[in-house]
Amino acid sequence: MEEKAATEARNHARLAIMELANMISVPMSLNAIVRLNVPDAIWQGGSNTPLSASEILARVLPTGGDAENLQRILRMLTSYGVFAEHLCSDGSGDRKYSLTVVGQTLVTDNDGLSYAPYVLQHHQEALMRAWSLVHEAVVDPTTEPFVKANGEAAYGYYLKQPEMNGLMLKAMSGVSVPFMKAMLDGYNGFEGVQRLVDVGGSAGDCLRMILQKYPSVREGINFDLPEVVAKAPEIPGVIHVGGDMFKFIPQGDAIFMKWILTTWTDEECQKIMENCYKALPARGKLIACEPVLPEQSDESHRTRALLEGDIFVMTIYRAKGKHRTEEQFRRIGLSAGFPHFRAFPVDHFYTLLEFLK
Ligand SMILES: C[S@@+](CC[C@H](N)C(=O)[O-])C[C@H]1O[C@@H](n2cnc3c(N)ncnc32)[C@H](O)[C@@H]1O
Repeated sequence: MEEKAATEARNHARLAIMELANMISVPMSLNAIVRLNVPDAIWQGGSNTPLSASEILARVLPTGGDAENLQRILRMLTSYGVFAEHLCSDGSGDRKYSLTVVGQTLVTDNDGLSYAPYVLQHHQEALMRAWSLVHEAVVDPTTEPFVKANGEAAYGYYLKQPEMNGLMLKAMSGVSVPFMKAMLDGYNGFEGVQRLVDVGGSAGDCLRMILQKYPSVREGINFDLPEVVAKAPEIPGVIHVGGDMFKFIPQGDAIFMKWILTTWTDEECQKIMENCYKALPARGKLIACEPVLPEQSDESHRTRALLEGDIFVMTIYRAKGKHRTEEQFRRIGLSAGFPHFRAFPVDHFYTLLEFLK
């Protein structure tokens, strides 16, 4: 009996390692269906009618393509919860596909946003070149795999290529807007703030949403690299300011910062937070939103998404930038001068971190 259980465990282990070894098929297929614009083609303004691969193909590639290969991709992603599969009851073996709730996050909404640009952004060729060098982050963490593969750091590389820069802005907006809605529903820390600075605010979407909910914020300063704010759209009540957060951060009653600290080393985070400290009045507040790791590693979707993001940061942005635990954030805040710290988990991916002067 014991031998049978051991054999079963070994069989299961072999299966598990085969799944992991073939896992690259998942993100690359996800990228393929986004590139082919499959989610929008199925969604069609909310109808989400199950379609065969040939029917989808007719919508996305009117000049023709291989329906069987598209179906292979759809089947595999069905297994990962992106599509729902409908087997035709006539015994023909024909299959049709609609979008699950997960697949629907890839559909372009009325504001032109979705998670699709984030998928595309993560699989551009320059990033793919870095992925085969992940082990180099262990061998030599002084140079990022992205830098080894492409000769320069990711942000500098994006900024030189208008298409990459544009995709980055779209990807950030697609992820940030749904999070900001959840955050603004569950957090009232912007009450009483009149001048708010968003450090690394990208296109200014976060500020736009905060100002809509809190008209008492009379001035929003969207602070980002000069090349980034040069592309940012005009937003009523928002002034775009270009600069380098390692040198100087504009003054405000409060500072907001989303998805910034993760990209940098502990020493760099301390420097950014010291500049925030200098830009704030007595009792001023830094509100940071970051992915926050649980202390314990487990197999939940949340922990996996956070740990996978951590490897992304290590490979692409900063070999010693990282996702951190609450305690690690508290300590860096303290070293930058912030004596008070509170954490609010307002979303599955991001946690809101308040640092008070
Ligand atoms: C991951 S994105 C987050 C964007 C936005 N806060 C959001 O959550 O959607 C990081 C942002 O930091 C900006 N950034 C990078 N280095 C910077 C620097 N030295 N000074 C100011 N902003 C910087 C990037 O241009 C980018 O917009």
